[in-house]
Formats: sequence, C-alpha cells, structure tokens
Amino acid sequence: MSDKITLDSLKQAKQAGRKLVMLTAYDHPTARMMDEAGVDMILVGDSLSMVVLGYPDTTSVTIDEMLHHTKAARRGTKRALFIGDMPSVSFDQPLETTVEHALRFQTEAGCDAVKVEWKPNIEAVVRAIAQKGLPVMGHVGLTPQTAAQEGGFGMRGKDIDSAKRIIQQAKALEAAGCFGIVLECIPTQLAQHISQTLNIITIGIGSGVHCDAQVVVSHDLLGLFETFTPRFVKQYAQMGKTIRAAVSQYCEEVRQSTFPDAAH
Ligand code: KIV
Repeated sequence: MSDKITLDSLKQAKQAGRKLVMLTAYDHPTARMMDEAGVDMILVGDSLSMVVLGYPDTTSVTIDEMLHHTKAARRGTKRALFIGDMPSVSFDQPLETTVEHALRFQTEAGCDAVKVEWKPNIEAVVRAIAQKGLPVMGHVGLTPQTAAQEGGFGMRGKDIDSAKRIIQQAKALEAAGCFGIVLECIPTQLAQHISQTLNIITIGIGSGVHCDAQVVVSHDLLGLFETFTPRFVKQYAQMGKTIRAAVSQYCEEVRQSTFPDAAH
C-alpha cells in the first residue's frame, strides 16, 4: 500500500474524485488488519459503547474506556489517518475541559484527529480544538449522541427545513475548521449537494454513493453485531456465525476427547 494518509492526501483525493474508505476499529488486531487491507481512515467510534462494551446506547461509554480502546487500535495502525471519537460525556463540561479531553486523544492515544457530533455551540468547540493544532472531523444528520432528544433514529433531512438546517450545520463546521464531515442517514441528493458544496471531504453512512468517502461500523460490516442491522448495512461476512461454529466444534471435540490429538 502507498504512503501514510495525511490531511493533504485526503484533500487531493477529493479534488481528483478518488473515493476514500473509513471503518471503525476498537482493538489492535482489527485495526492492523484494516490498515493492511488499505482502509484510508480508522475511526475508534463511540459505537464501541454498543458493539463491544454491551451498553444499550452510544452515550454510556466513558472517556477512559474510549482512550483504552483507542490506544490499542493505535498500536495496530500505521498507514491510515487515525481518528478518535469524542464521547457524549466530553461535552457536559466547560469548553476548556472539553478541549483538554480532546487533547488526551492526541497525547495519550496518538490520534491524528478527533471527531465531534453536531450539538449546540459545537462550532466553538471545533475552533478551540483546531487552534490547539488537533484536526477535527464533524458529524451531522443523524447524530446518535442526541438522537433520543431529537425524535429517535430515523433518516434526517427529508423535508426542506431540516435539509436546510443540515446544510447550514455542515457549512458552519467547515467554517469552524473541520477537515471532514460525516453525513449520517440523510437523503442521497442532500448528501450529494453538501459534498459538491463543501471543499472538505464528506464521509457518508446511510447517505448514498455521492459522498467523498464511506464509513460503516465494522461490527455491522463483518456480521459481529447481531442485535440489529441497519437497513443501509451490507454484511460482507458473517463472523458471528463463523465464531459460533468454530466454538461449537471445539466444545464437541473436547467433550469427545478428540482434541487435543497427536498433532496438537
Ligand atoms: O461511532 C461511530 O462508529 C460513528 C460512525 C458510524 C461514523 O460515529
């Protein structure tokens, strides 16, 4: 695979119309496999909360839990741009404390950037973090940290008013200094319009094919998170089934005394 991914190479890919790939990872071996497979950006998402830690939502995960997994995934990532997701609890604080939390992702866990979801006054947070020299990725549309207060987990931007609001939010995040924005669960044409309007990269999830990059939660892509599967997810593997079959066979062989055998 080619050179280390930088903010400049992401910008160049957008200008050249070259699609980019982002995936989530939460541990060392998975990040290493994804990096070796050629993913451009690795995100330690706060989806960690649900798909790995077993909490009921993404708002339960703590900063220390995020950092613990982020450090592990960092050790597996060499080429991809490495991004830490700021969990919901980072924002229940004065601005300076939120910025300190963001910087922990850089100094303690080696992140190249952090991601923040849209919420009131987020532009000030983005500006303050970016001024400290830490690049920031934004996130608009369906924002899971505040979805419960905003009517649940459906599509966003389906009517004119909410589409206009999302366009304004995306422009405000670009103006505040974001280098990229996740567009989650918005109509294809709205995502296309935003991607064509902004100079920074857009990363789509459930938002159609016209975004500059695509991201999904890796446990959805790999069939490892079986509680529910969003409609926009394509399962490229069914690792849950594979693991259950391997473990059943191991149980069987131990109980039958056919493992260990002479070769093992
Ligand atoms: O937490 C996460 O995994 C995310 C991605 C789905 C963008 O925010």
